[in-house]
Amino acid sequence: MASSSIFLLISAFFLFTLPLFALNVSHDGRAITIDGERRILLSGSIHYPRSTPGMWPSLIKQAKEGGLNTIETYVFWNAHEAQRRQYDFSGNLDLIRFLKTIQDEGLYAVLRIGPYVCAEWNYGGFPVWLHNIPGIKFRTKNDVFMNEMSNFTTVIVDMMKHEKLFASQGGPIIISQIENEYGNVIGSYGNDGKEYVQWCANLAQSYQTGGPWVMCQQSDAPSPMINTCNGWYCDQFTPNNPSSPKMWTENWTGWFKGWGLQDPHRTTEDLAYAVARFFQYGGTFQNYYMYHGGTNFGRTSGGPYITTSYDYDAPLDEYGNLNQPKWGHLKQLHLLLKSMEKVLTHGSVRSIEYGNKTTATIYSYDGKSSCFFGNGNAEEDATINFENTIYTVPAWSVTILPDCFTEVYNTAKVNSQTSVMVKKENAADDLEEPFGLKWQWRDEGFEHSNKNGLIEDSLMTVEQLLEQKSVTNDTSDYLWYITSFNVKNTDPILGKDTTLQVKTGGHIIHAFVNGRHVGSQHAQNGKYNFTFESKIKLNVGRNEIVLLSVTVGLAHYGPNFDLVQTGISGPVNIVGRERIDDDLAQKLGDEKYIMQEVTKELAFNKWTYKIGLRGERQQLHDPLHSHRWRWFGDNLPTNKMFVWYKTTFKAPTGSDPVAVDLMGLGKGHAWVNGHSIGRYWPSYLASEDGCSPTCDYRGEYSNGKCMTNCGKPSQRWYHVPRDFLNGDDNTLVVFEEFGGNPWNVKFQTVTVGSACANAYEGNTLELACQGGNVISQIRFASFGSPKGACGSFGAGKCESPSALSAIQKACIGKERCSIDVSESYLGPTGCKETNKLAIEIIC
Ligand code: GAL
Repeated sequence: MASSSIFLLISAFFLFTLPLFALNVSHDGRAITIDGERRILLSGSIHYPRSTPGMWPSLIKQAKEGGLNTIETYVFWNAHEAQRRQYDFSGNLDLIRFLKTIQDEGLYAVLRIGPYVCAEWNYGGFPVWLHNIPGIKFRTKNDVFMNEMSNFTTVIVDMMKHEKLFASQGGPIIISQIENEYGNVIGSYGNDGKEYVQWCANLAQSYQTGGPWVMCQQSDAPSPMINTCNGWYCDQFTPNNPSSPKMWTENWTGWFKGWGLQDPHRTTEDLAYAVARFFQYGGTFQNYYMYHGGTNFGRTSGGPYITTSYDYDAPLDEYGNLNQPKWGHLKQLHLLLKSMEKVLTHGSVRSIEYGNKTTATIYSYDGKSSCFFGNGNAEEDATINFENTIYTVPAWSVTILPDCFTEVYNTAKVNSQTSVMVKKENAADDLEEPFGLKWQWRDEGFEHSNKNGLIEDSLMTVEQLLEQKSVTNDTSDYLWYITSFNVKNTDPILGKDTTLQVKTGGHIIHAFVNGRHVGSQHAQNGKYNFTFESKIKLNVGRNEIVLLSVTVGLAHYGPNFDLVQTGISGPVNIVGRERIDDDLAQKLGDEKYIMQEVTKELAFNKWTYKIGLRGERQQLHDPLHSHRWRWFGDNLPTNKMFVWYKTTFKAPTGSDPVAVDLMGLGKGHAWVNGHSIGRYWPSYLASEDGCSPTCDYRGEYSNGKCMTNCGKPSQRWYHVPRDFLNGDDNTLVVFEEFGGNPWNVKFQTVTVGSACANAYEGNTLELACQGGNVISQIRFASFGSPKGACGSFGAGKCESPSALSAIQKACIGKERCSIDVSESYLGPTGCKETNKLAIEIIC
């Protein structure tokens, strides 16, 4: 064998067998240190179950290109151990594959093992069977809970060790987390809560992962646990232990959304401001929650009432597209902060107060200085004199000068493109207008007793109303409560004026009396406890009441959230009116005194329970699963409750992400090729109020600020990850609970339609379309003193006559181009002030 091939063989052997280098991760009061080097860690949360294995490589790559060096994720207990001691790590639960994808990109990982996650995730990540173990008390000193918790955390830690995923073993995990924001609720658990914190810390330590552990929002975190900060701003945070670095585990990039609520937005300028301030004031680890929010597939959304979309207005949108300008503006900040790593983590720090919330912070190390000029005033720009140079720092912004002289970045000056995302029709499907997809259907029907008075396949009958999740173990959103009673012909509740009243803990109820639907109601305005009322008509003899209670995500946050009731709590009453004694009636004379209410209480009747829908048991959602049910092609019902619909469609061509527009449908659940794309509810409109057409980034953000989408469906489009699709024919199945019209349902792709920028001279402007689409037109370009905003740009007093042609030459026909925003590239403008380039491109 030639020596070169021996060499190749030997190197291949080492490549595949040598473990990656073990890293020594520790910390001091200043930073996390990796192999003795203090590091600036720029991290972003991506939750593996909220995306798919097919999306992971590109999400992580885009995170890296966005300047991150770390990815953070929770571990989702109820997803992995949906049934006690039966574990699932397949598909989008393949945590190992996710972590290895992070490693393959050369990024670090932060693993928040929890196992409580919050995260707007069903039941905060706890499996519901846990709630049903006798004697259990969640998140406190309780042996049953602690035993189950440590069982799960041990499974995870052992698995990570086995796969050599901790940094100390050569893997990507540099930091782990135990519990989550327990400090926010500890007050409700008394002394047992404090002991539980200590127990959590000991448990974490006992795992000897070789790296630090954090406990966020835990101001009494026992050393060596590092107490970290969560919130929109964390610059003023100080950990309880002097040897803990200042770390920010959740910088909320936007906010989550609920059914019936508007779309939250956090501006790019404000997010960058919060990050820059955190580093100005000594922070060294910062994580975006979320960097990619993604989708609550299946029944994973928390609640009640968290939408299927968990977009979060994050730098990568739900579909995995760049959310511009957020992604780009932060990228520039990350690159700059990384370039200042040494001086920030080793430098001496001094500051100059200019008053009016304006501060210069100077880091100096090894003969080099870097500066931050922060202006925390929400209205007034500041003009400061720093070492004999005058600088203007816009209100609510931070300027970064890596050499303490040249302004390289200001959080309020956005030099990245703003993309306008569009939905494009599915070119692959050649549909005939106006009716596009061809639908089949079948009825779900509703439960009722058979001729022998029995409910087929019922779970149990008891003389009590039971809490919903305790009965279902949350294996379905649906629980039937069925009872019957006899009425004699003399019974006053037989009259015309009879009402059924049902008190429920939520979230939706459908009521049927003697086989007839008498009404449905869903919780609204955050009131999940409500009393349903409907006029009913009873028969002489046997009467049957069938109540279908529906949950829409279980509570995930707050002290004792695990005990929040769902389902029909009672009372369940039949209220009739009877005529009072004739003599008395005559005396009173007035009609309204003549009748009096009579109530028949049913709460302690015999109630029969049945979990789930027939279609769920038949697995109608899965086109590959054989069942004995027929689908019908004709007489498609619309606006009818409890109908299953099915159609086929062609996968959209290209690589842009796919969404399905479910406008016209009511509420239900949808599946593509058997994969759940989540609950849908386009008929639930977002509140009319609270949106504003403009949004001022200045001043403290909170989730009520800068909302959009008022009065429109709170979620109309649903993400269909491309790895759910086959090349050819695909099947969409929906279960429509409320009644809707499927004729307008259509598949689309989501891409950049156009983009604008308003960049300052001295920057390089990157312009890009996506998915192979090219820049087809420069709709507007003016370099000089342009006016207006995206969509209404206009030229100012001065501009370069040759800018447009220079840009056309560089960009037309290309998917991306970069423009040097300078007079030498775009031509002289003759303007006196700093030039700006306003541009609008069409993809
Ligand atoms: C935090 C929590 C996260 C998430 C966030 C809001 O308190 O730790 O899991 O719920 O709030 O999105």
